[in-house]
Amino acid sequence: MSRGVVLITGASAGLGEEMARQFAALGYDLALCARRTDRLTALAAELGGPGKPRVSVRRLDVTDDAAVFRVFGEFAAAFGRIDRVVVNAGLGKGAPLGSGRWDANRDTAMVNFVGALAQTEAALQIFRAQQGGHLVLISSMSALRGMRKSMTTYAATKAGVAAIAEGVRSERIRGVDVSVIYPGYIRSEMNAHVQQKTRFMVDTRTGVRAMVAAIEKRRAKAYVPAWPWAPIAVAMRVLPLSVVRRMV
Ligand SMILES: NC(=O)c1ccc[n+]([C@@H]2O[C@H](COP(=O)([O-])OP(=O)(O)OC[C@H]3O[C@@H](n4cnc5c(N)ncnc54)[C@H](OP(=O)(O)O)[C@@H]3O)[C@@H](O)[C@H]2O)c1
Repeated sequence: MSRGVVLITGASAGLGEEMARQFAALGYDLALCARRTDRLTALAAELGGPGKPRVSVRRLDVTDDAAVFRVFGEFAAAFGRIDRVVVNAGLGKGAPLGSGRWDANRDTAMVNFVGALAQTEAALQIFRAQQGGHLVLISSMSALRGMRKSMTTYAATKAGVAAIAEGVRSERIRGVDVSVIYPGYIRSEMNAHVQQKTRFMVDTRTGVRAMVAAIEKRRAKAYVPAWPWAPIAVAMRVLPLSVVRRMV
């Protein structure tokens, strides 16, 4: 029997794809979206089928606001309800501010912040109507402080995502739980170019296992994997910027 329906954006790769696998293994039905539908279709074939979870896929570019509302609405209509929405689609392509790469920083801001805002609007419309649901926003450890160079815009968008989560949680909407997940370094397409020996990098399955465990517990906030990122989070909040700039 299904444990409920989980909608995941950015499910075609990396953490979203692996979350889909792990939620399917836990017995959830899945509503999966991203732009690369060939990858979503292959994932649905792997996870769905007779006796397995129900998996529905749709193309979605989260920067297309109208499409976000339409696709979320179509999923809700097809399944009858959505129990959890994971706002996961993200882009890590910033550049130092003032270096002439406005396009890269704008793209990152539109996907990671404005896109997350649209997804939150669409999710909460569904949750308010059905009087319940679990909103999960994927932030980043980089949200905790200002970050330099190519990370500046990305970190600012992720701080914005965390602020959306806290604001909605503070509203205490009837039946709605809100979680914000701050991943450390987890191997994915986003960091495939980064050297293997990056400090504290874990493989996708291990990192996502920690994410899924925190989501299942409906934790309000989680730094994942907890070791070493929970203590690093404490340090990042209190240490001077001159130290933080060398930590992450
Ligand atoms: N990996 C890490 O270490 C790490 C650490 C902290 C936070 N995060 C966050 O975790 C989330 C997942 O990242 P990841 O590491 O799994 O990255 P990834 O491997 O690059 O995957 C990103 C996903 O987002 C989707 N996406 C990108 N732009 C999109 C758009 N305009 N519309 C719809 N979907 C879009 C991609 O799908 P399509 O290209 O098919 O659309 C893909 O499925 C992101 O929010 C990221 O910021 C990751």
